[in-house]
Amino acid sequence: MNFFHPLMHNNFSNSDTMAVKKLLSNKNLVLTQSKKVREFENKWSKWLGVKYSVFVNSGSSANFLTINILKILKGPGEVIVPTLTWVSDISSVIQNNLKPVFVDINPKNLCMSEKEIIAKVNKKTIAVFLSHIQGFNGLSSNLINFLKKKKVMLIEDVCESHGAKFKNKKLGTYGRISNFSFYYAHHMSTIEGGMICTNDKKIYHLAKILRSHGMSRELGDKNLENKIAKKYNKLSPKFIFLYPAYNFRNNEINAVIGLNQLKSLDKNNKIRRKNLLIFLHNLDPKKYRVDFDLAGNCNYAFPLILRKPSFSDRKKLENELNIKKIEFRRGNAGGGNQLRQPYLKEHIKGINLKNFKEVDHVHFFGYYIGNYPSLLKSKILKVCKILNSIDYNIE
Ligand SMILES: Cc1ncc(COP(=O)(O)O)c(C=O)c1O
Repeated sequence: MNFFHPLMHNNFSNSDTMAVKKLLSNKNLVLTQSKKVREFENKWSKWLGVKYSVFVNSGSSANFLTINILKILKGPGEVIVPTLTWVSDISSVIQNNLKPVFVDINPKNLCMSEKEIIAKVNKKTIAVFLSHIQGFNGLSSNLINFLKKKKVMLIEDVCESHGAKFKNKKLGTYGRISNFSFYYAHHMSTIEGGMICTNDKKIYHLAKILRSHGMSRELGDKNLENKIAKKYNKLSPKFIFLYPAYNFRNNEINAVIGLNQLKSLDKNNKIRRKNLLIFLHNLDPKKYRVDFDLAGNCNYAFPLILRKPSFSDRKKLENELNIKKIEFRRGNAGGGNQLRQPYLKEHIKGINLKNFKEVDHVHFFGYYIGNYPSLLKSKILKVCKILNSIDYNIE
């Protein structure tokens, strides 16, 4: 469909095409993971402010490998997860045979409720896997200090919040491990892609091995590789599989696109921040939530949440969005309350949905619409006018 206001626009530009063409014009092409992947990892680490990054083929692969590393280092145990997030933040925990423990959201930032995290940490908790939802920061000093004191690992999912900050430092630098996604819909794209980031050398090594079949030769550290080869001297040094793993590698073409897109990320994020403010300042606060905690935010989408819960009003809103060709997704991040999804049925027996009121409001009455860099103020004002003129039953 041709949208008047799509979710994303022009996230793959002419200059990306030129960068790929340049790569393909080289002689003796190696397009599988090689130099450009390493260059992208180094430039990403520098941009983010961490020591190490590992480029993988999606954000969900980054989630899976991260929780696999957690299991190797700390398992078994419980992982506190959000109810509003992407499926892979929870499936990664289940597939690694760890127990997900769910918390409701904070309506001001759509991220995990700090109060509930603190209440649910116990002796079995090995990590909190916190998603920064749609460009909002979900961290506080209180939470970081509490988790440090309890020796619970903080893992950040920043797949939806590239460039957002807490206390002037980028999200993804606070957790022991952080994850990013470069899927088309996000702040920048490598078509498909994800990143695992850390300051911890052991985690870096594990991520590189697990990304590539569990093979020791992926370490990139000759001393270590030789030590392992000596230990397993009945095996070919090039084929020592240390863990039961898979192939989550990315490739040179996607890395070149990532390198090119990274050049405009900060500039584009500045526009996104400015545009979110125009949107929030012009929406009718009697009809929609506009009172978000904006400190450090960087949103790739506009959160559009009905203030009052009403299914008839929801119908009116969706009708109008369809008529005016404004593309939308209901449930904000990941389709809303994960506890309502069929894949979790066997894992949440005994959980009472009534204890998850905030995420349920967003599940039924929350949406997101596009906030892309080429979006002009005039279009935001038109979209707000359309939204404000809907005649709701409950006001
Ligand atoms: C919070 C979050 N985590 C993980 C992912 C998975 O990323 P990908 O689509 O690159 O697999 C997404 C995807 O949109 C996401 O929003």
